[in-house]
Order: sequence, then structure tokens, then C-alpha cells
Amino acid sequence: MPTLIQVTADNVFALSNSRISYLMRVSPEGILEHLHFGATISNPETFNAHHKRVMRSLSPEFQDTHRYSLSDVPQEFPVFGTSDYRQPALHARNVNGNSIFDFRYRKNSILKTKPKLEGLPSARQGNSETLEIELHDDVHNVSVLLYYTIYSDYDVVTRSAKIINHSANELKLEQVFSTCLDLPQEDYEVLHFGGSWAREFGEHRNALPYGRFSIESARGTSSAQHQPFVAIIEPSTTETQGQVVATALVYSGNFSINIERNEYNDVRVLAGINPFNFAWTLKSTESFTTPEVVHVYSNQGLDSMSQTFHGFIQNNMSPERFAHEPRPSYLNTWEAAYFDITEEKVFELAKLTRSLDLEMLVVDDGWFEGRTDDRRSLGDWTPDKKRFSSGIPALAKKVKDLGLKFGIWFEPEMTNADSQLFRDHPDWILHVPNRKSSTGRNQLTLDFSRPEVVDNIFQKMDTVFSCGLIDYVKWDMNRTFTELGSAGLPANQQGEVAHRYMLGLYSLVSRLTEKYPDIFFENCASGGNRHDLGMLSYMNQSWVSDMSDPIGRLAIQNGASHIYPLSTYTSYLCPVPNHQNGRVTSMETRFNVAFFCGNRGLSMSIDDIEKDKDDIKQYIQQFKASANDAVNGAFHRLYYTQNQVCWQLSSADEKTLYIGYFVVLGEPNMKFKRAYLRNLDSDAMYKLQDSERLYSGSQLMHAGLDLPYVSVTQDALASPSRVGDEQGLQVLDGGDFVSSLLVLEKV
Ligand code: GLA
Repeated sequence: MPTLIQVTADNVFALSNSRISYLMRVSPEGILEHLHFGATISNPETFNAHHKRVMRSLSPEFQDTHRYSLSDVPQEFPVFGTSDYRQPALHARNVNGNSIFDFRYRKNSILKTKPKLEGLPSARQGNSETLEIELHDDVHNVSVLLYYTIYSDYDVVTRSAKIINHSANELKLEQVFSTCLDLPQEDYEVLHFGGSWAREFGEHRNALPYGRFSIESARGTSSAQHQPFVAIIEPSTTETQGQVVATALVYSGNFSINIERNEYNDVRVLAGINPFNFAWTLKSTESFTTPEVVHVYSNQGLDSMSQTFHGFIQNNMSPERFAHEPRPSYLNTWEAAYFDITEEKVFELAKLTRSLDLEMLVVDDGWFEGRTDDRRSLGDWTPDKKRFSSGIPALAKKVKDLGLKFGIWFEPEMTNADSQLFRDHPDWILHVPNRKSSTGRNQLTLDFSRPEVVDNIFQKMDTVFSCGLIDYVKWDMNRTFTELGSAGLPANQQGEVAHRYMLGLYSLVSRLTEKYPDIFFENCASGGNRHDLGMLSYMNQSWVSDMSDPIGRLAIQNGASHIYPLSTYTSYLCPVPNHQNGRVTSMETRFNVAFFCGNRGLSMSIDDIEKDKDDIKQYIQQFKASANDAVNGAFHRLYYTQNQVCWQLSSADEKTLYIGYFVVLGEPNMKFKRAYLRNLDSDAMYKLQDSERLYSGSQLMHAGLDLPYVSVTQDALASPSRVGDEQGLQVLDGGDFVSSLLVLEKV
């Protein structure tokens, strides 16, 4: 591996691979200044595009310097109150009660091994080098260690920070971001994603305003409302052109991404734990580690940004054991039977699962004592002896004897007022004294900031897992925090609860995943309420949304694909009318959308399955035949509007191209549309499946592939043969919610 980090004699730090550079320098005053994050800069020792020292009226000069006001200096880890008025990376109260710190450069070291973050998930070493830089405040004897990791094979720089209190006094941290990126003074747009339950990952793209713009969560989860991700882009950016600087947080709790444009047009991006409702006491000799962020740079638009995230996440973040393994097709009992499950019914569904040639049965909610609706029993995790008289291990064995894998649902972080756990330990929930706790889905949140609560749940899950028959666990989390407080912490540390909860959660997840490396874990939080790089560092995939209607899912999957590879999300064929939005769609369209997910399955009642059994069986075969490609292929968003969507999945061996085309509402006399495919072999020929049509790679990329014509009026073009028309045009029978999956094979 080539050397990735260079430190020049006058302290310019250059982290470079052959495509990107991240440059910083130490100013004569000892301030760690940001110089560049973008395309590779050669000869960093000659880099002289430093901050310009000019007279800035109304901006004080920093201490005894001349024409150097921190209010417009690009910095790596700024503080407030010493001439910078922007939001700082670090804000804390010292022993004197004020918040003034002055961190100057002390030393650096290049680490060949990427340090693990204490108690927090982080990207793996991969082909990387790490730079550690120490800044120090002499008055209060506090150090900040900044970590930067650059990879040779991905256009990624990861960052995190560690604050160490070397003094004898306590320090109160009020705001500690993981990163500060001070960008050049250009016009930018901000791209980010969010929505609500069952409509996660809506795309938002706005001009970056003068002032401050932030996305954040104070709900205890990263949230469906805002993804912990932002891309700062040139206004002209498209899928294939334009500069993009993206930031994704490796954290699953309260976060904030704060973007500020000041009076000099300087743009600052801060990302990390949400400072709102946060305070952390750092006692003498203690340290505080921030979550990690992943920064991606692309100068070839959003597709290239996504390819970088996809490869990086799959190879350096997703748990290695299953990162590249094709997922088993499955039947999930949820939309098949909801809480109405018994041993007999589950076994019936298992036999059906087998006869459909699926590979796994997942018992969703409802398998434990008293759980006949969503009002009770969370936290007890005692299998229901009435409805499952032989016990879960015996059922798992019977299911596995059919040749299936066996999966089971848990919601480890929750309890109900009507549960043995809560009766025994009423103070084990997040709550504050003398106030009634609000509920969400009749649930109370367990206080995972307390190690004894985490231990209790570990033991209960361990008991179920220890039968050795569980292949898959769906880990759910169905409410957000209220009355945030812990009986386990003194009054002056209540500001720590939300982050301590995350540390407790990560400790439980890592203990279980380490003890049971062969169990495949799926992350879920009412769908995509916690679909983030934190959870995805422990679990390979996520139930991206409770929205199971394919048309409702188009925007969700399209949005999610900007950051997360297909391997990280799950789908199933749903019943119609759809249970979330009442929409009726064809089985073909349900299949075509579900196809573009890493894991595919089915969640329908026995009656509904029987109605469409032959179609379903044939679709399952297609799921299975493409299972490797869904995990290891390359996904491209070719086209996305409110009414039409087109996606490309290139197989892992690059020989098969799957083109999904979706039309939401039919329109008469439709305009023709082509899709320009990406990343093909120009000279190779590709044959459209079920037809004699041949295309060169260059034609498909540069002249495009004709997308099907949706004939609403049964006009002259409409022929009974759907493919293979001599005009090379697939004609679909019209109406709404029509779709097609075109497959091309390299010949
Ligand atoms: C949440 C999940 C669903 C299902 C139910 C079970 O809503 O997102 O998929 O598991 O909980 O209660």
C-alpha cells in the first residue's frame, strides 16, 4: 500500500490517495487550519492557498496577532469566544465557570493501525492510515486528540475526536462535535433525507441559506425524520457530474448536523452528538470519545458518491461474516398473521414456506407469553407455553428439519407496564421523578444507561439464543424517548442519559453479536427509524421501512440508495390492498420493487398466498437466482421523478443487467423515454432477455435503452407480445402502478 499520510517540515498534513486529498496545516500561532478536502493535490509542501490575513472590521483580532481573526479562519476543531463567532466544535465549562478554551497544536503521530473507538462502532482498518493530532489548552490542561483515517481504495476520510481532562478539576462538556469541515466560499446546495414513519428517506435538496441550517434528532434514535447524513453539493450537481462533500455519522442516537454560512460566505459543517439536552461531566483523568463520521468526496456527482459509500460500507463497516453472503429468501409472519400466531399456525406457515421453495421462516412479534396484542410482555421474553406448548427450540427444530432457516423477532430495549420486568423493576425505565411517563405503542423504554438493565436483557436473549437453533434475529425498536432521565445517575449527570443509553445499546449488541457470530441480525425500528451506520456496523441489514407497498417504497429505496448499499435493506411481497396505504398493485410490480433490495421475502396470509401461488413461486425463483447480485451487484439510480423511476443493478460478475422501470400513474399518449445505463463494457454486446435484440455497451450508455411504452388506450402499438416487438419496444398494458424488469445479458 502506498504511503497515504505525509507531514511536511513546516507542519502541513496531507492525507492523500490517488484521487482525494485532505490537507491541514499548523498556523504560526499554532491553530490547526483546514486547507483542502477534494481532488488530490500533489506536492503538499508547496500548497500556499492558506487563509488570507486582511483587516476585518468588527471582527476582533485573535489575542495578540495581526489581522488574524478566527471568525473567518478555516479550522479543524474550533472553539467559541476567542474571535470566532460561528458554532464551535467544542464548547465546555471550565473550573472558573466560563467557556473559554484555546487549543494549540502540540504533536502528531501516524498510526498504522486504526484505533477502535471506546464503546462506539467505527469503520474497520481496511487499507488505511490514521493521523492522530493532539491539540492542547495550557490553562486548563485539556487535550483534544483528532483522528483522521484515509483509505487507499475509497474516497473516504473518517474522523473522530477524544477529549482528555488532564487537570485536577471537573470539566462540563456542553457541545462536542465529531468533525468540523470549513469549506471554501462557494455557492452550495444541501442534500439530505428524511420523512416520517413509513415514508423515510424523502429527498430534500435546498440552496444553502445565509445563516444556519441544521438537521437533528432529539428523539433518542437517529430517526425517520432526519437521516444522520448531509451532502454539500455544487448547485449544478447531477447523478454523474459535480462536486460533492458528504458526511455520514456512525451513530444511532440524538445527533445534529449543523451547516453555517457566515458574513464572509465561509461554510462550516459540524456533525456529531446533538448538543441540545446534552451535558457530560468529565472528571479528572477521564476522556470522552465522539462518534465517528465518514466523509466522502466525489467530483463526478451523486452516483459516484453512492458507489463510494456502498463499497466502503460493505467492505469496511458491515459485519464481515455476512457482508457478501447472499441472503436467504424468507416468509415473515407479521403481515401474514400479526399477533395471531400459535405453534400450529407457524408450522403451517413453515410448510408453506417450504412448498414455495423459500429458505427461511421468521417468527415476528407475538411468540412470548401474554403477547396477543401490543399492550404487554415486552422485556419478559419468556416463550408462551400456551400458544407454543413445545417451546421455541422444539419449534425451531421442526422448522429446520423442513430444510429452512429459523428467525425470530425481539424488541430488546422496551417493556410494557403490564410485564413482569416492570413489576419487579419499575425504576428500570427512562423516567423522571414525580411525573407520569408518556407511552408510545403502549411501551416504556428501558434505561440502557444502566449496565444492570443491559445485563438483564442480555441474559434473557442469551437464554433463547443458546438453544443453538436461531439463524436470524430481527431486532426491533418501536418508540422514541420521552421523560429522559435515569434513576441510575445523580442529578448533575442527567444530561448524559441519552448518550449513555447508546453506549449501553452498543454494548448489548456487540456482546450478542460477538457471542453468536453465526446469527444474522436485522436492524429495525418501526421500519427505518434507526437505519444508520451505527446499527449497520453490528447488523448487516435493516428493515428500511414499514411501508410495504411498492409504489410507496420507490422514494424510500431511491433515497436510501444514496448512502446505503442494497445489501443493507430488506423487503417483502405484501398483501393487497396494502396494509399501510390501502393501494392495490399487481404482484409483478410488488416483485419488481422488492427485487432492488438485498434481502427479499414474503409476508402474506396463507389465503392470500394460495390465490397467487404460481406467480409467487416463480417470483421466488427469480429472487433466489439473483440473490448474490442483490448483495454484491452495483446499483445505479438512472432516473427518478414523481411519476417515473428507473434503476439499474449490474450483477456481481457484470454480465447481467437488471433494469427496473416504474410508472406511478398512467398517462395517455405517453412520451417515449430512454435510460442511459452506466458502467458497462463499451465494446461488449448485451442481449435483451426473451428477445433477439442486441445492444452494444456503448449504445446502452450513450444512446440509451428504450424504456417500455405504457399503452393506456390499447392503441395500435399494443401487441399481445410484451417483449420482442420488432421495433425493440416493450409495450405494457396501461393503467397505474405499472412496472417492468428488463434483463440484459452480456453475450
Ligand atoms: C414494527 C416493525 C414491524 C413488525 C412490528 C411487530 O412495527 O417495523 O415490521 O415487526 O413492529 O410488532
